[in-house]
Amino acid sequence: MANGHPLTNVQQRDINAVLHPYTPLHKLAETGPLVMGHGKGVYLYDTQGKEYIEGMSGLWCAGLGFGDEEMIEAANEQMRTLPYYHLFGGKGMEPATELAEKLKEIAPVPISKVFYTSSGSEANDTQVKLAWYYNNALGRPEKKKIISRVKAYHGVTVMAASLTGLPGNHKGWDLPVDRVLHTDCPHYYRFGQEGESEAEFVARLAKSLKDMIEREGPETIAAFIAEPVMGAGGVIVPPAGYFAAIEPILREHDILIIADEVINGFGRTGNWWGSQSVGMTPTTISAAKQLTAAYAPLGAVLVPEDIYQAYVDHSAQLGTFGHGFTYGGHPVGCALGVKAIEIYQRRNIVEYVRGLTPTFEARLAKIKDHPLVGEVRSCGLVGAVEMVADKNTKRPFDPAHGVGSNLAKFLEGHGAILRALGDTIAFCPPMVITGDELNELFNRFELALADTEAYVSKNGLRAQ
Ligand SMILES: Cc1ncc(COP(=O)(O)O)c(C=O)c1O
Repeated sequence: MANGHPLTNVQQRDINAVLHPYTPLHKLAETGPLVMGHGKGVYLYDTQGKEYIEGMSGLWCAGLGFGDEEMIEAANEQMRTLPYYHLFGGKGMEPATELAEKLKEIAPVPISKVFYTSSGSEANDTQVKLAWYYNNALGRPEKKKIISRVKAYHGVTVMAASLTGLPGNHKGWDLPVDRVLHTDCPHYYRFGQEGESEAEFVARLAKSLKDMIEREGPETIAAFIAEPVMGAGGVIVPPAGYFAAIEPILREHDILIIADEVINGFGRTGNWWGSQSVGMTPTTISAAKQLTAAYAPLGAVLVPEDIYQAYVDHSAQLGTFGHGFTYGGHPVGCALGVKAIEIYQRRNIVEYVRGLTPTFEARLAKIKDHPLVGEVRSCGLVGAVEMVADKNTKRPFDPAHGVGSNLAKFLEGHGAILRALGDTIAFCPPMVITGDELNELFNRFELALADTEAYVSKNGLRAQ
């Protein structure tokens, strides 16, 4: 049974055969999977034909929505020409070259080389290995620790999950591994102290980072990694001046600054890169997701010339550069990356996102007064609504009540999909959404919010 209804055949087959990621496995048979059939534009249709507005671009990635004919054609063409090859042992292929050239052209800082992966996790794992390789090349074998942040999300491979600063990715998985440190999360609403201004909060976080570096020994720290705007940790936009305050401390100690642009990149925040929206100046960059608008899996690591030269020297010493993925630089993924960037440029996606931002912000602002809502926040076309049990004290709900996941379920009933990150509801609609569609997404969200309020009141979930 799924929510009182018998499971459909396709739901039953799914449950019998699929191990679902990020799913409460013990509840799946009860709730039944929501099985999607097809998509067009910003709309998805499940196998029963019910329509949903996709408010999360899938997993923050399908920036061009579904069924873009140009993307489909680019994939077809590449499939026919060369469906697979690789870059190992000095092989090359045109789509990988062209995409690397394009990435160098649009990168927010000078970039010399692009290393390809199949995913964001692999990109961040690669970042760590590259930071280690780099410091070995420079004869600094002790300089290996990586500083990440509480509430960061950098993926799920052993190292990427260790960089991630969320308990759900550590508990039960024997993580984080050593050499990974987590500094403070720059979320003023949650972590600002009584009477502390935003500027004081930033200064406190910078001091805390400095103390951590001194305590550990700067000679042991290789890199700092950060999402410009944090995604899965709750869409956290850092206060003004945050990166300006911490970057000099990192630079002073020769600590690489890695921007995880996996969600932020390619227009999402109203600039080509999230780093440009928040005043971050990275040394290296991880990209994925909207790199291909999710029409194929692909990730990339972008590195500058001086760091690349250190790899060259080390490779000369060791005989090779011993790292690479079978599907890193897959020609179909790269052809789709080239096409996606061409579309973003031709349709002026950055301006388009900026044009939609006032509507997005206005609809979020309208929700702010709702009794369930503690904070709304956004940057470009990514945002969140954080629900709390008590608006005045910011007291969260007991996580066991699953208020956020209940809202997401109510929302499905109203024909829209958003993601519950605990009791924070994330918004990341396809960047090609129209103003009318965006308003409709919020109309449906408001219905779900009303359902949630009724559910919370009826069950007395605000009680301490
Ligand atoms: C900021 C960030 N980095 C890395 C990842 C991991 O990417 P993937 O799921 O492609 O491995 C994600 C995924 O959501 C992400 O949001």
